[in-house]
Amino acid sequence: MKYNTIKKKFIFFFKKNKHKVIKNSSIINKDKSKLLFVNSGINKLKNLFINNTSYKFKKITNIQKCIRISGKDNDLKLIGKDNYHHTMFEMLGNWSIGEYNIKKAIKYAWILITKVYKIPKNKIIITVFKGNNKLNLKKDIITYNYWKKFIPKKRIFFFDFKNNFWKIENFNLCGPCTEIYIYIKNKKIKNINKNFIIKNKKYFIELWNIVNIKYLIKENKIIKNNNKFSKNYIDTGMGLERLCMVLQNKTSTYDTDIFKDIIKSIERILKIKYNTKKKNNNSFLIKIIADHIRTIFVILYDKILPSNNKYGYVLRKLIRRCLIYVYKYLNIKSPFLYKLIISVYKTFYKKINQKKLEYIKDNLKTEEFFYFNSIKKNIKLMILFFRKNNIKIINKKIILYIYSTYGINYFIIKKYAILNKIKIISFKLIYPEIEL
Ligand code: ALA
Repeated sequence: MKYNTIKKKFIFFFKKNKHKVIKNSSIINKDKSKLLFVNSGINKLKNLFINNTSYKFKKITNIQKCIRISGKDNDLKLIGKDNYHHTMFEMLGNWSIGEYNIKKAIKYAWILITKVYKIPKNKIIITVFKGNNKLNLKKDIITYNYWKKFIPKKRIFFFDFKNNFWKIENFNLCGPCTEIYIYIKNKKIKNINKNFIIKNKKYFIELWNIVNIKYLIKENKIIKNNNKFSKNYIDTGMGLERLCMVLQNKTSTYDTDIFKDIIKSIERILKIKYNTKKKNNNSFLIKIIADHIRTIFVILYDKILPSNNKYGYVLRKLIRRCLIYVYKYLNIKSPFLYKLIISVYKTFYKKINQKKLEYIKDNLKTEEFFYFNSIKKNIKLMILFFRKNNIKIINKKIILYIYSTYGINYFIIKKYAILNKIKIISFKLIYPEIEL
């Protein structure tokens, strides 16, 4: 099933079940919270949950682009290393604002994944909140018992606060959650138990999170005695990229049709090949670029430009990560990212707005040129610094100084040192950005 069909089926299902379809909104989070970007579908709906009388629709669905690169959820370090985390993903969600309860939400989810998407039942496991004595939060027995109607109890597991209690951030809405996991290996599970799941963690993909919004949280304190929420406040989210991976029988989101054209363009432009089975520099590089270029696109699309603060800084960081990796592994020192924009545009929109396309490409290209020019200039300054100070040994302090003053990464310093027979004292670098 293609990703566009998967999206359509999701919206159609909830529309048929009388949900109001709302549009994807900007990924910029403009409220006063620490979150720069929308990190989940509920983000823009949180005020409706709190002031629940102000909106006439109580059942809502949408597909929202989410960015997890700052704040509570930061997946940046995982990109390129695993096969299913992304700095930006599309979240399929449905909400009940004082309308249906957790049982109904579970029923919807079960029908959709087993009857509409036809995911085999023996591939599914469920997690439920086991409670927390310290926080005086009860074990979620109601949810556990209800799941037993659909799935044998040996496939339902209790997990703790870290896994099965969801919050937008460290304040605002929160509650216990139940999650649907899919076993993605093409093998039958013989004996399912917690140990097996923990050992085979990478083959169990968290697909759908169903949260029973019950409380508000402030500075890590759960405020329970508010009368705001009845039982019927539901927030759910399922990653489109992961759902595609499952429905297209893949073990990596990068092998789905969402990434197909983007990866083809990267291969063509950088003249390298992607091999999903092999863990090598090229595959790592392609995953990083394929992931980041989508995030770069949506940020630029929302009219943020690279800069040195807030949103613009995140954008700049992502662009630079792509450039520096390509410089390191392929010795390419010229702009290329802007050439990928058309393939990203096509994965999100059927029709291309030529003006918008040019705007995004031009700004990206300018930033790429700016970066390579400043690197060139700064390498000269670094060399001057080494000569002026007659540096014969490069230690950790010098490396940190060079990075913070000239923005030069370790691999460039090392190249220079080897070329000029300067000794580098090896040490464990703690900042992956410098290590590059
Ligand atoms: N808001 C919930 C999540 O992001 C559904 O997992």
